[in-house]
Amino acid sequence: MVDKAMLHTTREVDPVTGVVSYNGVSRAVFTTHPIEKPYLIFQIGSADPELAVQAAKVVQQDVSGIDLNCGCPKPFSTHAGMGAALLTNPDLLCSILTALRQAMPPEITVTAKIRLLPSQEDTLKLVERIVNTGISALTVHCRTRNMREKDAAVIGRLREIVEFVDKMGKGIAVIENGDCENFEDAKRVRRVTGASSVMIARGAEANPSCFSPTPLVDVETTLMPAYFRLAKYFGHHWSLTKFCVAQFKGKRVTVTKAESTALRSTLSQGKGFEAMNDVVGTWTGEEEFKEIARAIEENPPRQRRMLPSSFVIEEGDLEESPSTEEAPSTTLVTPPNTQNPEPPTSRAPLLPKDFEKELGPPPPPALTPTPGGVQLGSL
Ligand SMILES: Cc1cc2nc3c(=O)[nH]c(=O)nc-3n(C[C@H](O)[C@H](O)[C@H](O)COP(=O)(O)O)c2cc1C
Repeated sequence: MVDKAMLHTTREVDPVTGVVSYNGVSRAVFTTHPIEKPYLIFQIGSADPELAVQAAKVVQQDVSGIDLNCGCPKPFSTHAGMGAALLTNPDLLCSILTALRQAMPPEITVTAKIRLLPSQEDTLKLVERIVNTGISALTVHCRTRNMREKDAAVIGRLREIVEFVDKMGKGIAVIENGDCENFEDAKRVRRVTGASSVMIARGAEANPSCFSPTPLVDVETTLMPAYFRLAKYFGHHWSLTKFCVAQFKGKRVTVTKAESTALRSTLSQGKGFEAMNDVVGTWTGEEEFKEIARAIEENPPRQRRMLPSSFVIEEGDLEESPSTEEAPSTTLVTPPNTQNPEPPTSRAPLLPKDFEKELGPPPPPALTPTPGGVQLGSL
């Protein structure tokens, strides 16, 4: 979100659904729900420390962190000095991060997302400056500004960056981004790069359950109906809903190709939610939402941050993580010397490398409920 777009919005809360909208002149420019807050990082496009801080202050109460976009290569960002243009203006980039860190309370994390620079040496110099601003985490999209999504991400360059940041000793998480589509990819990428975590973009657009070791299959009967119900309940705009749903794809097990094609054709011709009445089944979005709220309550954010044991990196694949002399505790602790101690509600993405030892077994993976299973044949 471009900083200026947030400045003149008015915040409105829907008394029935709880949806929080930041309304611009003609439409909401940002909507969220309090249930998302523990997981929600708000990304700002900015080329001005003051505007960035003002925008961050507008949304601060509804988010857990502020991220600075230093990677968008599109002219609408770069022509104004935002996004990937910041990569070649490190003074400005760092002044925005410093201003955000100073202005935000400690429980709001400040992070940055960059792309690689053409030379590794320049990338490391930039990373050093960024890390020294006091950020909590750095996401590296493993492409340069001139590379497009069809070009393979240069994941091989990340390991040196991860090790470099580790050596800086500030406990900053490095998150890999680029060409990681699912749980198995994430394991591989972490193994190869040593990154604390991964960011999945297009894979998550295609199947939001891609983070699970058992992602939803037959998205036509599982994901799509649930998404329609929720979108309608929350008053999501039909055309945006349609756009998102049209991108859903996944492995088909019981749904046939013909059924999938029929549903997508109904969707593309649909002029409103009513067009999908046969797809959504008997549940309403309110029931769906209560189910999700219950699942989150039973599996709270801190535990949800834990990765299943199958995610563990094989021994010897990574250099040993820096040992701490403290006795293992049963809760996550802020690593010593960390600049931005993780406060109780921040959900900062930093995970100690030996987190599983500290926490014991993870909770069972939450399965997405698929009530009122829909028979596509009836379409
Ligand atoms: C439709 C679309 C919109 C995007 N918008 C943003 C954005 O607002 N901010 C950002 O940092 N990256 C944005 N990206 C880039 C992704 O975050 C990510 O860096 C890129 O897609 C590579 O990751 P992937 O291989 O997992 O897709 C966008 C990508 C796509 C396809």
